[in-house]
Amino acid sequence: MNDDPFARVREALAAGRAAFAGADDPATLVAAEQAFLGKKGRVPALMDLLKSVPAADKAAFGKEVNILKAELTALYAARKAELGARVAAPAAPEVDLTLPGRRPEHGSLHPLTQTARDIVRVMNTLGFEETDGPQVEDEFHNFVALNIPADHPARDEADNFYLDDKRLLRSQTSTIQVRTLMARKPPLRVTAVGRVYRPDTVDATHHYMFHQVEGLAVDEGLTMADLKATLLSFVRALYQEDVEIRLRPSFFPFTEPSAEIDVLFPGRGWVEIGGCGMVDPAVFHACGVDPERWSGFAFGCGVERLAMRRFAVPDIRRFTENDARFLKRLA
Ligand code: DAH
Repeated sequence: MNDDPFARVREALAAGRAAFAGADDPATLVAAEQAFLGKKGRVPALMDLLKSVPAADKAAFGKEVNILKAELTALYAARKAELGARVAAPAAPEVDLTLPGRRPEHGSLHPLTQTARDIVRVMNTLGFEETDGPQVEDEFHNFVALNIPADHPARDEADNFYLDDKRLLRSQTSTIQVRTLMARKPPLRVTAVGRVYRPDTVDATHHYMFHQVEGLAVDEGLTMADLKATLLSFVRALYQEDVEIRLRPSFFPFTEPSAEIDVLFPGRGWVEIGGCGMVDPAVFHACGVDPERWSGFAFGCGVERLAMRRFAVPDIRRFTENDARFLKRLA
C-alpha cells in the first residue's frame, strides 16, 4: 500500500468507482458498500489516518476524504436504485440453451377418418366420384324415393331420430342415391361416406351414430357381375389382402335382387360388411330415370365394421370415446 495518504485516497476512489460500477447484483453491491463505506471499510480507515497526517496537510487531506466519501456514497445510492429497478422489472425467462429440445406432439387422423379417406381413394380408382348429402333429411329422400312404403317398419318413430313431422337424421346413406339420381344424368358412378343415426342401444357392435359408405353405378347393361367385381376389387384394395366375398340373397326395398355382402378374411370366418343389389326400377321411377334404358347397382357398408376389422378393434364404442391412448395406437 502507498505511504502517501493522498495517493491512498486516489486509489480508494478508483477502486470504489470500479466496485460500484461492477456490482451486478444486490449481494455484490452490499459487499462493496461494506468494503468502502462500512465501519471497517476503506473510507473510515482513511478518516482514521487523519490523526497521523502532518498538521500542514490535515485540512487538505480531510477535504479529499470527504469528497471521496461523498462520491462513493452517491455511486452506491445510484447503483442501488438501478439494481432495484432491474429487480422490479419482470424477469426474463431463463433459457438453458444446452437442454435438448422439446419434441412437439404430432396430431394424427382418427382411425375412422383414415378408413373413410382410404375408402374414397379406392373407390376413385374404380371410377367412382365422391359426393355427399345432408345429415338432416326428409322422408322423401330417406324412405319414399327408396321404395320404403309408409307402413314399413323401417319408418317407425322408435327406429329413427325424427326432428319433426317430415324431417329426421338420416338412417342410411342410401339417401345419396336419390339425391344423385335426381341431380345428374346417367351414366354415373358415385360414392359417399357419411354419418347415419339410429336409436340403437349402444353395445360393443351397435351405436346410435355410425358411418356408412354408399356406392352407386348407373349405366346401360350393368349386371350383378359388375356389382360383384366392383365389391371384390373394393375390399381387396382396402384390406390389401386376398380376401374373398360372397353375396347372400337378402331383401332391401330399393334393390332387386338384393344381397348381403360377406367377406372372408384368411384364417378367420365370414364377416358381413353391408348390403347391395341392383337398383329397383321403382327407385329409378321416383327419381325420373328411365328403367327401360338404364340399370344400376348399389351397395352400402358400415364404415365402423370395416375399420374394426382393419385395426382389430373389438368394440365400436372406442371410436367415440376420444381416449388418446387408443387414438395414438392407431395413428
Ligand atoms: N341402406 C342399407 C342399410 O342401411 C344398406 C344398403 C343395402 C345400401 C343395399 C345399398 C344397397 O345401397 O343396395 O342397411
